[in-house]
Amino acid sequence: MAVIEGAPTAPADRQRPSRWLLGVGLVIMLAGVLFGYDQGVIAGALHGIKADFDIGTTVTEIITSWVTLGALVGALVAGGLADRWGRRSTILSAAGLFTVGAVIEAFAPGPPVLVVGRLVVGFGVGVASVAAPLYAAEMAPARVRGRFVSLYQLAITMGILIAYVVDEALTNSDAWRVMLGVSAVPGILLAVAMFPMPDSPRWLLRNGRRDDAADALQKVEPGTDTEARLAEVQAAIDADRQQASWGELRSPSLRRPLQIGIGLAVFQQITGINAIIYYANEIFGAAGFSTPQEQAAATTWAIGVVNVLATFIAVGYVDRFGRKPLLRAGLIGMALSLTVVGIGFHLLDGQSGAKGGESPTAVMTLVGLVVFIASFAFSLGPVVWTVINEIFPSRVRGRAVAVATAANWGSAWLVSQFFLTITDAIGQAGTFLLFAAFSAIAFVWVTRTVPETKGRTLEEIEALWTEP
Ligand code: BGC
Repeated sequence: MAVIEGAPTAPADRQRPSRWLLGVGLVIMLAGVLFGYDQGVIAGALHGIKADFDIGTTVTEIITSWVTLGALVGALVAGGLADRWGRRSTILSAAGLFTVGAVIEAFAPGPPVLVVGRLVVGFGVGVASVAAPLYAAEMAPARVRGRFVSLYQLAITMGILIAYVVDEALTNSDAWRVMLGVSAVPGILLAVAMFPMPDSPRWLLRNGRRDDAADALQKVEPGTDTEARLAEVQAAIDADRQQASWGELRSPSLRRPLQIGIGLAVFQQITGINAIIYYANEIFGAAGFSTPQEQAAATTWAIGVVNVLATFIAVGYVDRFGRKPLLRAGLIGMALSLTVVGIGFHLLDGQSGAKGGESPTAVMTLVGLVVFIASFAFSLGPVVWTVINEIFPSRVRGRAVAVATAANWGSAWLVSQFFLTITDAIGQAGTFLLFAAFSAIAFVWVTRTVPETKGRTLEEIEALWTEP
């Protein structure tokens, strides 16, 4: 996830979006789908990979989680690449890398090559996850810019769902190579969508290509006063020159927003979302869904579909109810449902032999997981990214968002890397109760630390940090 300027919304004019602007929307959506597909696909692929390669817990965890490690590195270097090569070339390269990684995965003769493929794919996802929203933020007129944050999150959840549907369609043949290889498709589509598009006016102008910048502006905002807009873009570039250094991130006035941004990014992950997204089929297996078909169906519907639908709640209500009420309500739902899931697993452990998709305890565990996903999807999923993108003063926003994003990928990696090890050590029940405890701590922390930012201008938000 990357920097989206939280620019104030200009009065909406009724003009229809140009086809170039639709192209920008398509690029951001495909980047989100690509991210989500890759998060989701491993859930269905693990079964076949384990059967083919006869691997233990540690290698399973590495194959699952190193995508996140690649993405962490990709996200950190993406800003530099996008400045040097331009947004367009960076996104094209990310799409290319992603496609190559998918092919490496699909033809991997053994676990080491598969892990290399996962790292390459992850790197591509990480670069695209920063460069595509950055490109969209620079291309879109102010009146639609803010919406791209929710559009991007929605696309991520759709990508996860598409991956689950593909996994489910292929469970019979257990074709894990096809499941992973199919991820080349969104990569290729992203390249095709990006190819005819111009680079962003901001990057073009900064590189002395004034005519190309004017042309790009005309394409996305036909009829706009190009000279006036170019002057605005130039002013923004000049302001950027006074960007804070990395060292300034340590200044006392930034301590609170940084604590909030990093805290939200970490809590979003250590409450367990990606353990469930990645290991959904194993979790449903442990919860009594015995065949791969039953597990895949439970994953598609209980996780994939619910995740997409509940994200719409946040898109619709985040500006009406505010960030904090959504976060707090979601965290209560998450803490309670994770406790139910923990108790469910505890009971299932005690009734060995009585497992089966139909048992009441299995159903209770399933309901718990559904409530958890829904609670996450209308709260921590999208709202964390909204808040991270609006709490930092503009001078440090790029860098501060990068730090929070890195904290998010880092904690996602920790959880997916050690989830199976932790469940081996303290059991499924203990692990979910631990996630429940983190949700409860997050609730108290959000209540005490996070201010409401709904309806405040960026300047008002900035002023919050200097209050005693
Ligand atoms: C998180 C991802 C997660 C996704 C699930 C996003 O907000 O950052 O890590 O996989 O939500 O929908």
